[in-house]
Amino acid sequence: MSSNQTFTVHVNGAQPRAATTSLAGALPAHIGSTEDTAGMPADPSKRSRGDGALRVALLVSIDRNAPATPQDAPYDILAELDSEKTAWSYAAALLSRGYEVQAHEGNAHLPEWLSAFRPDICFNVCEGFVGESREAQVPGILEMMGLRYTGPGPLAAAVTQDKPTTQRILYYHGIRIPLFQVFESPDDTPRADFAYPLFVKPAHEGTGMGIRNNSIVRNERQLREQVAWTIESYRQPALVESYIEGRDITCGLVGNGDDVHFFPITEVDFSGYPPELAPIYGVQQKLDYADFYRNKCPAPLGEKLTADVRRLTHQVFKVTGCRDYGRVDFRLADDGTLYVLEINSLPGITPHSDLTLMAEAEGWTHADLVCAVLDAALKRYGMTEFSPVAVLNASRAG
Ligand SMILES: Nc1ncnc2c1ncn2[C@@H]1O[C@H](COP(=O)(O)OP(=O)(O)OP(=O)(O)O)[C@@H](O)[C@H]1O
Ligand SMILES: [Mg+2]
Repeated sequence: MSSNQTFTVHVNGAQPRAATTSLAGALPAHIGSTEDTAGMPADPSKRSRGDGALRVALLVSIDRNAPATPQDAPYDILAELDSEKTAWSYAAALLSRGYEVQAHEGNAHLPEWLSAFRPDICFNVCEGFVGESREAQVPGILEMMGLRYTGPGPLAAAVTQDKPTTQRILYYHGIRIPLFQVFESPDDTPRADFAYPLFVKPAHEGTGMGIRNNSIVRNERQLREQVAWTIESYRQPALVESYIEGRDITCGLVGNGDDVHFFPITEVDFSGYPPELAPIYGVQQKLDYADFYRNKCPAPLGEKLTADVRRLTHQVFKVTGCRDYGRVDFRLADDGTLYVLEINSLPGITPHSDLTLMAEAEGWTHADLVCAVLDAALKRYGMTEFSPVAVLNASRAG
C-alpha cells in the first residue's frame, strides 16, 4: 500500500459510499421482489472486469475494539484477535492486486455497512469476541444477507470452534484422535479407560489459550485443579484428552474439493524455548516466547508419513465442511501413530502465522497467501475472471 493511501477499519456502520435505504437492499437478486433489489450487491455473473475493480469487504476482529474483559480474565483472553497493523497487512495484500478494499469490524453494525458498501465478496477473518460459536457469527450474517465470503460457513465455523464436536465427527469417520471427555465440572467422574498423563484445555479456544505447563496433569488432584481453573477462567467446559507424547505437526492447505494446494508440513522445534517450558505449543510459546520459535519446514517425516498427514488433513477439511483454507494440527506419537488434535477452519494468516511461514517456506509472499485464499473463494463462486492470477495477467497484457 502506498503511503498516501488511508486505511480505516470502520466500527460503527458509517456509510462508506452512497447509502441504500434499507437492509432489504443488501439482498441478492434471487431473494425478494424486484422492488427490494434497488441497491443490491452487484451480481458477479453479470459483471465484467471493465465494470471496475472487484469490491472486497475486509472483515476483521480488532483487539482494540474488544468489549471490556473482566478484571480477573486470564492474560491471553484476547490472543485470537488481530491488531490494526495486521488488518492493514491483509488490506495491503488485496490492494496490491488492484481490488477496491474497505474494512469493517465484525460487530452488530456490520449489516448496515455492508448494505451501503455492496461488496462483490467479503474477506472474512473475524474471530469474534464473545460466545461459544463466535467465529460463526459473521458467516451467519453474511449467509443471511446472501453475500459471498471467504472461509467457512456458519455451520463449519461453529463445529470447528468447538473441539469436542469436531472430535465426535472425526471419530465417526474413523480418524484417530486422542481419547477425550468433556468436563462441565471439576467433580465429573473421569472415564475408566483414561490413563495419566492427561491433557486439559478449553473446549473452544485457539492460539494456545489456556494451554500451558499445567495442562499436562499426572494425577486426579492435578486433573481436578486444572479442570476447575479452565472452566472458571474461560467460562466454558474443559476438554480432557490422553496426553500424546510426541512431535507437533501441522499441515495447511488452500483450495476446495480436490483442487487443493498443500503447503510444506511444519514441525515445531521445541529446542529453542527455555527448558522450563513443557514441549507443547501453548500460549507461552505462541505469545510470550514468540521470538524463540523455530520450526522444521518441511518436517522430516519421510514419504509415507508426509502422504498420510496430507491425506488426513484433506479428509478432516472435507468432513468438517471447511472451505478455501485450513490447517490441521497433529501429534505424532513416539510409536509413529498420528493423532488429529484439531482443525483450524479460520487459521491465522497474519504475516507471522504458521500458515504464512509454511507458504513462505516454498517461496510465497504473505500477499500471495492472502490472495490465494480469496482466489479459492472466487473459484468456488465461479468468479474466476476476478481471480488474482487473472488480474495479474490482464495487467501484464496491457
Ligand atoms: N491431547 C494432546 N496431547 C499432547 N499435546 C496436546 C494435546 N492437545 C493439545 N496439545 C498441545 O497443545 C497445543 C495446542 O493445542 P490445540 O491445537 O488443541 O490448541 P489451539 O489453542 O486450538 O491451537 P491453535 O493455535 O492451533 O489454534 C498442541 O499443538 C500440542 O502441543
Ligand atoms: Mg492448534
